[in-house]
Amino acid sequence: MSKHIKFFFLLIPGLLIYTPAVHAEYGDVVINNYSEEAGMRPVIFPHWFHRIRFRCKVCHADLGFKFEAGGNEITMLKIIDGEYCGACHNGEVAWSVESCNLCHSAKPGTKTQVHESTISKLLTRSKPKK
Ligand code: HEC
Ligand code: HEC
Ligand code: HEC
Repeated sequence: MSKHIKFFFLLIPGLLIYTPAVHAEYGDVVINNYSEEAGMRPVIFPHWFHRIRFRCKVCHADLGFKFEAGGNEITMLKIIDGEYCGACHNGEVAWSVESCNLCHSAKPGTKTQVHESTISKLLTRSKPKK
């Protein structure tokens, strides 16, 4: 009994920090080169979700996404022009840009990173911006 109560109190700080709005999973890429400066939440790109639906080549060769979290200068103008995410999120292949919150869904303050990657756990400082 007292063991259970101790466990419960250990759990509380975790519950307070955890917010269900943040649904980044292992391997998701958080992109925040421009979003927060512009008053938007950072973007969560669910990599695994996309990787099981498309070949690597579609994005990393045909659409020109560099293999680096935050390594692409993505803006809404480019997306609306059909580049990057906009090649698919155009209301045809996938839902379109009007659904801002579906992409801009990360907790404010989250830096550009591969979510929960070993590297982001080991690094105390964020990667310098290019
Ligand atoms: C399909 C995903 C997606 C959707 C939907 C989306 N965005 Fe973005 N947006 C991005 C990505 C990716 C970036 C680049 C993120 C970064 O580097 O911070 C970005 C960047 C931005 C930026 C900063 C760069 C710039 O272009 O000024 C603003 C502001 C922004 N989005 C606003 C919006 C608004 C408003 C909506 C809804 C009308 C929206 N976004 C919908 C993916 C999306
Ligand atoms: C739907 C598009 C898409 C597909 C399909 C895709 N990727 Fe990615 N990948 C991205 C985006 C977007 C990023 C993040 C780029 C950024 O932050 O600017 C990324 C980042 C990466 C990175 C760097 C971040 C990390 O996780 O270390 C690697 C490595 C990578 N992809 C490998 C792959 C491999 C391997 C495949 C196929 C099994 C694949 N990708 C399929 C879009 C895609
Ligand atoms: C090669 C096509 C393609 C590209 C490029 C692409 N997406 Fe997607 N994305 C899809 C498809 C297809 C879906 C599923 C749509 C549906 O369920 O109706 C999807 C779904 C999503 C979802 C919802 C995942 C879920 O759990 O339901 C998010 C968030 C998302 N994309 C963000 C992005 C962002 C951010 C980018 C650019 C960095 C991007 N996508 C680039 C095709 C793409």
